[in-house]
Amino acid sequence: TKVVHGLKSTEVAKTFKKAINKKEGIYAVAGTSEQSSSGTQHSYSEEEKVAFVNWVNKALEKDPDCKHVLPMDPTTNDLFTAVGDGIVLCKMINQSVPDTIDERTINKKKLTPFTIQENLNLALNSASAIGCHVVNIGAEDLKEGRQHLVLGLLWQVIKIGLFADIEISRNEGCLYISLIALLRDGESLEDLMKLSPEELLLRWANYHLEEAGCSKINNFSSDIKDSKAYYNILNQVAPKGDEEGIPPIADRLGCRQFVTATDVVRGNPKLNLAYIANLFNKYPALKKPENQDIDWSSIEGETREERTFRNWMNSLGVNPRVNHLYVDIDDALVIFQLYEKINVPVDWDRVNKPPYSKLGSNMKKLENCNYAVELGKKEAKFSLVGIAGQDLNEGNRKLTQALLWQLMRRYTLNILEELGDGQKVNDDTIVTWVNDTLTQAGKGTISGFKDGSIATSMPVLDLIDAIQPGSIRYDLIKVEDLTEEEKLNNAKYAISMARKIGARVYALPEDLVEVKPKMVMTVFACLMARGMKRV
Ligand SMILES: *[C@@H]1O[C@H](CO)[C@@H](O)[C@H](O)[C@H]1NC(C)=O
Ligand SMILES: *[C@@H]1O[C@H](CO)[C@@H](O)[C@H](O)[C@H]1NC(C)=O
Ligand SMILES: *[C@@H]1O[C@H](CO)[C@@H](O)[C@H](O)[C@H]1NC(C)=O
Repeated sequence: TKVVHGLKSTEVAKTFKKAINKKEGIYAVAGTSEQSSSGTQHSYSEEEKVAFVNWVNKALEKDPDCKHVLPMDPTTNDLFTAVGDGIVLCKMINQSVPDTIDERTINKKKLTPFTIQENLNLALNSASAIGCHVVNIGAEDLKEGRQHLVLGLLWQVIKIGLFADIEISRNEGCLYISLIALLRDGESLEDLMKLSPEELLLRWANYHLEEAGCSKINNFSSDIKDSKAYYNILNQVAPKGDEEGIPPIADRLGCRQFVTATDVVRGNPKLNLAYIANLFNKYPALKKPENQDIDWSSIEGETREERTFRNWMNSLGVNPRVNHLYVDIDDALVIFQLYEKINVPVDWDRVNKPPYSKLGSNMKKLENCNYAVELGKKEAKFSLVGIAGQDLNEGNRKLTQALLWQLMRRYTLNILEELGDGQKVNDDTIVTWVNDTLTQAGKGTISGFKDGSIATSMPVLDLIDAIQPGSIRYDLIKVEDLTEEEKLNNAKYAISMARKIGARVYALPEDLVEVKPKMVMTVFACLMARGMKRV
């Protein structure tokens, strides 16, 4: 992970500038987007804009493809024009979740309105695939630099990148090992694992504050305003040196990104969270407690499929955001929201809502889960044999995934049915359409979503080229006798190309290489949806 997150290397450090201009604070702009046609004012925070601009400048400093817009001046509105051609966004997404975007698919030279649109499609569909909520943002909004939307999207992308290392530490268990020291009365290790990245960072900060013998903090806003907490945390994680004030220690550690003294004093929670996350990524300074006897082998990390489900639901904007697939849906609230997205009516009067009282809270959650299963069986007509509310509530992986898959599948099919004026769509309809489209373009067909040829990605690439003739550069693809690496290479290109021509694909390259029929189905379905829009 050290190599991958080059962004967090110590050089990040030196960019800190007192760049905030005098007008800092909240800007109100008269929006021109759809939502604001009613006259709504959209506001954004100037200090956040400054911090994000500095972060992007540093992150892409050495990227030759961004020379035409970087470095941006944080005191101006440079940012909003710089994102207009999609390149910076694509690069930032790929930094946050490495390998999300295939370099070969970004249009870089002699941009036209059409190739810019492609870049923006690629950026938005890739952002969606990594779990950004992009439902109300379109390419137009980015092209026109609508400030609150640009900043909202950029913050989501940055945050996903900042939290990536926390996820890794989480999956490898190393984060918990030390934080066990911070377990509160009556908490189990499992409770610790249920914490969101924000909560984990708070625990981490408090871990160091406790080690320093200082009082704890409850949040990254008002509690850090006097900067004492930062001083003590920095002192704890810093390799010991001379006594210094915060700015020099922070400089030495290379952790001055995101906050200025002003931001600390104002207690901007977003920027302070980003600051702490960056500090954690570079100097976790966690040590293994000696007398802990825990079997870490029982901790299973998140599978690729689980991550795809999670990204899919987060991109639809479910509330709360799902950080942990099973824990965060144990009261089925997110499931109800997904039902609504597939037009299954939910009787919200029957739903228990948080905050749940301490006593009997699980009973309330279980009632919700029972109702969620009932809706699935009676209204959505899902196949939920042997699945009970309890399975969702307890987070039975296999059974919960069975429901989630049917939700995702229905969501995908609904899009096709809407495009096809309500005509029923099933796997066969999709394969037939794929076969017809491929045949008309003079390319080979597939027998279904398990067809072995899918491992090479050729059918997907051919279909993309059939939908948008001339889009695939066949000179970049290896067609025969592929090694595993070459298969993956084709698949990365295929997935990025699908997103670039406008298909909102959530599946990953590995899903094609391993021919995972469910995810393969979603790829073809999304391409079919894109193909149908052509006419
Ligand atoms: C995306 O990330 C991968 C891995 O870090 C890198 O090899 C690739 O060049 C990057 N692509 C873009 C478009 O930045
Ligand atoms: C932060 O925590 C303190 C108590 O430590 C509390 O007084 C304050 O209201 C909290 N601020 C926010 C914004 O939640
Ligand atoms: C698609 O084409 C393949 C090969 O020609 C054929 O075996 C398959 O039955 C076709 N499937 C559909 C649904 O048309």
